[in-house]
Amino acid sequence: MKTTAAITGVSAYLPDYILSNKELEKMVDTCDEWIMSRCGVSERRILKDKDKASAFMAAEAAKTLLTKKGISPLDIELIIVATVTPDHQYPATANIVSDMIGATNAWGFDVQAACSSFIYALTTASKFIETGTHKKILVIGSDKMSSIVDYTDRQTAILFGDGAGAVLLEPTTDGTGILDSKMYSDGAGKKALFQPAGGSLIPSSIESVTNKQHFVEMDGQSVFKVAVLKMADVAEEIMQRNHLKADDVAFLVPHQANKRIIEATANRMGISMERVMLNIQKYGNTTSATLPICLAEWENQLKKGDNLVLTTFGAGFTWGGLYLKWSY
Ligand code: UT7
Repeated sequence: MKTTAAITGVSAYLPDYILSNKELEKMVDTCDEWIMSRCGVSERRILKDKDKASAFMAAEAAKTLLTKKGISPLDIELIIVATVTPDHQYPATANIVSDMIGATNAWGFDVQAACSSFIYALTTASKFIETGTHKKILVIGSDKMSSIVDYTDRQTAILFGDGAGAVLLEPTTDGTGILDSKMYSDGAGKKALFQPAGGSLIPSSIESVTNKQHFVEMDGQSVFKVAVLKMADVAEEIMQRNHLKADDVAFLVPHQANKRIIEATANRMGISMERVMLNIQKYGNTTSATLPICLAEWENQLKKGDNLVLTTFGAGFTWGGLYLKWSY
């Protein structure tokens, strides 16, 4: 049978500090009831340590995963880190992580597609397995969103949180693993959700800092309108392409941006909310980390052969869907 990329292990790292809606009420003009009804977030985790960032969380998730699997870091051949909050512009966070975990035989790079980063990274990694060139790849989603959120902006302060999740990819020929994926992007949406400064267009300057251009800038309503459509579209497309009926899908694994977007996607797929991985209430939107954190939290409920559909939508715009059969 054809070689496919199987997820053979998952783990997550969430910082201890909990930023509740009650605490946010003291920071911006908002209230728990509004946040819960409009996006479904009750609390999020924040990495408070000033000297720790995305690479630290990614390395923690990776170390837990390697220990759990009893695998030496020296056996890892490739590390792909999905992130929009790299520790530095360069080197890549993947390089820093490989050093932190002692994966000195691995090469690596970062993938940045905003909230779709992890699904883009997973798709990319799967090709290195399918072609037979690699046998052990770590794909890690990690974001310290608190480093780019303006906690005086009530639209974004309520949504985002920090965290990381990691998966191990290995080849299999047993019919499980990543079986299909479809990615999309449309750069025409670039200004609906972006971090204006810090790149080569608007380099960091006193003006850019004064103008708060290093924070997430979002036109929430415009993003919502496209997200709600596209995430459901791609989920439906993945189901049709793979002849999956609602009953065939064990779990929908959606990006955690807004509970209403997730409900609309599940509704279009005909899947009841009991079969939807939903933890936005605890962690908010951790950007590149939402999907692997979900997989880690639901790992004990999954069994070999379960059909999972992963879907995401993010800035760019970027969106995508991925179909996999769980491998253990
Ligand atoms: O992961 C990447 C993609 N990101 C997303 O998918 C985010 C997509 N957008 C959203 O999830 C939603 O647009 C938000 C949750 C950000 C906002 O929800 P909304 O239902 O679109 O609210 P809105 O922007 O239409 O605002 C409705 C009202 C406004 O007041 P008025 O003009 O009706 O008086 C806002 O000023 O709610 C007000 N509002 C708030 N009130 C309390 C906006 N933010 C808040 C707030 N607390 N935090």
